Amino acid sequence: MKKKLIHNKGLSEESYKLIDKEIEKFPPAHKKSAVVAALAIAQREHGFVNQELEREIADYLGMEEISVHEILTFYNMFNKEGTGKYKISVCTNLPCALRNSRYTVDFLKELLGVEVGETTKDGLFTLLEGECFGACADAPVLLLNNDQMHSWMDKAKCEKLISELKEERLVENGRP
Ligand code: FES
Repeated sequence: MKKKLIHNKGLSEESYKLIDKEIEKFPPAHKKSAVVAALAIAQREHGFVNQELEREIADYLGMEEISVHEILTFYNMFNKEGTGKYKISVCTNLPCALRNSRYTVDFLKELLGVEVGETTKDGLFTLLEGECFGACADAPVLLLNNDQMHSWMDKAKCEKLISELKEERLVENGRP
């Protein structure tokens, strides 16, 4: 597909190539079906999808900006602004709450010295609350950078995880 650049050049050539591959999976009249994949590609490149990127994707897929925005805001795996290197989302939905995920959030707040929604001063960690990750049997659960699930997160496991991340021993944890 021929690249059509309109305004903001936020997405790289490489990202456009990846989006084109996603578009090819659908009939030409349905290229907007690649929107979730396109948002994920944008986030992988930038760490977030802001309004400019949202608009760029809408233009490229021939969609209304509001439609892209609705999809972006529906999925909490998408970041609307920059996060720390490690984004930690603790599930606080009912099954996890019944297994004390509130304490998991509290342990992490104490360990990191931040409130939910904040990033540590060194830019390493952002702490968030999330919706059910579909792993309720492992409650309480947290998701690291949208792609690595950590189960049964009691105080000891939170301490171990944070210490390993600080030492960058979990090197496979790249950005989402
Ligand atoms: S409620 Fe927490 S993973 Fe389902």
